[in-house]
Amino acid sequence: MSTHDHSSYKLLSTFKNKGLELQNRVVMAPMTRSRATGFEPNDLIAEYYRQRNTAGLIITEGNAPSANGLGYPRTPGIFTGSQSEAWKKVTRAAHEGGAKIFNQLMHAGRIAHTANTPEGAEIVAPSAIAAAADLWTDTQGMQKAGTPRAMTIDDIRQATGEFVEAATNAIAAGFDGVELHGANGYLIEQFINPNSNKREDAYGGSIENRGRFLLETAKAVGEAIGFEKLGVRLSPYNIYNDMDAYIDTPDMYRHLAEGLQKLGIVYLHIIDRAPLETQEGQQLVKDMRRLFTNTMIVNGGYDTHRAEKAITEGTADLVAFGVPFIANPDLVAIMKTGEEWAQPDPSTFFSAGPEGLTDYPARTLAEV
Ligand SMILES: Cc1cc2nc3c(=O)[nH]c(=O)nc-3n(C[C@H](O)[C@H](O)[C@H](O)COP(=O)(O)O)c2cc1C
Repeated sequence: MSTHDHSSYKLLSTFKNKGLELQNRVVMAPMTRSRATGFEPNDLIAEYYRQRNTAGLIITEGNAPSANGLGYPRTPGIFTGSQSEAWKKVTRAAHEGGAKIFNQLMHAGRIAHTANTPEGAEIVAPSAIAAAADLWTDTQGMQKAGTPRAMTIDDIRQATGEFVEAATNAIAAGFDGVELHGANGYLIEQFINPNSNKREDAYGGSIENRGRFLLETAKAVGEAIGFEKLGVRLSPYNIYNDMDAYIDTPDMYRHLAEGLQKLGIVYLHIIDRAPLETQEGQQLVKDMRRLFTNTMIVNGGYDTHRAEKAITEGTADLVAFGVPFIANPDLVAIMKTGEEWAQPDPSTFFSAGPEGLTDYPARTLAEV
C-alpha cells in the first residue's frame, strides 16, 4: 500500500541547466551488467534500459572506447561501426520514456584479463604495476588482473583519440552525451592515483601531471562533440580496484574540479560515499561543489529522503541511484508513492541472460 505521497519532492521535478533538460532529477547510475555477448548491446539490453526510461537521465554501463579498454567478460564497446549501430536501439528505448541517455566511456586499463579481451588487445596502464584485484573470466574462472604494459606518450595520445572517436560514435548512435569514467580505479583514475602512476614524464608525479590525462582527454572529447554533451565521473578517496589512499587527494580533486569547470563540461558526477565518512572528505565535496558550478550529480547509498535533502540543501543538483534501479525498474514512480524498494539478487548482477536483468516487474500501484 502507498504510505507517503512524495510527488511534490524537488527530486521528482523537472530540471534544466545549460542544455541539460530532464524530466526529473533521478539519474540511473552506470552499471556494468555483463550481458553484452560479442562486446555489443543486444535486444535484451535495450529492453532493460526501456524498462528504466522514466529516469531523468540514464548513464549506461561502462563502454570500452577501444579493444584495449575492455577488461571484464561480456562488456560492450563503442569503437566499431557495428557496436555504434547496435547502441541505436538502446538510445531509442531510453528516449521512448522521455529519459536522456549518456554513454559511459570506460577504459579498464589494468583492471583487465586477456581471457576477456579480443584477439590483438593489450593491457595498458600508466605504469607496469598489476592491480591486486581478481576478475571473473568465462573460460578460466577467477583470475588475477594482468600485468599491464606502461603506456608510451604515443599510447597516451592514442587513448585520448580513442575516447574522442568513441564519443563521436556515441553521438551518432543517438546518445545525448557521454560520461568519462574517471572513477573506481580504471584507466583515468590509474593516472590520477600516485600508487598506480609512477611515471616520470609529463603524465606522472605532480598533481598537474597526474590530472593531465583526464583534462586533456576531456578537452579533446568536448571539442569534438561539444562540452554541453560531456560529463565526468570521479570517486575521491576510492579504494576499490586497488586504489590506495594518498596524501594529496584533496588538492588533486580540487585541481580536477577547477580544470573541468574551466572546460565547461555539462556535469560532474561524484561518488561521495567515501569522502562523506571523514571531515576532510566532507570539506573536499563542498570545495568541489564550489569550484564546479555547472550541474553536480552525487551518488552512493542514497535513498529518496537523503536525495531530496541533498537537492534542497543545494549540495547537488541531481542524484544517481545504482542498485535501487536493478530491482525497481519503475523507481521514479515508486519514489512518488513512498513504497518500499524491492531488493535485487546480487548473484545475477553480472550473470548471462535475462534473469536478474529484465525480469524484475514494475510494481507501481495503479492507484496512488
Ligand atoms: C552491478 C554494478 C555494476 C556497476 N558498474 C559500474 C560501471 O560500469 N561504471 C561505474 O561508473 N560504476 C559502476 N558501478 C557503481 C555504481 O554506479 C554506483 O556508484 C554504486 O552502485 C553506488 O551507488 P548505489 O548505492 O546507488 O548503488 C556498478 C555498481 C553495481 C552494483
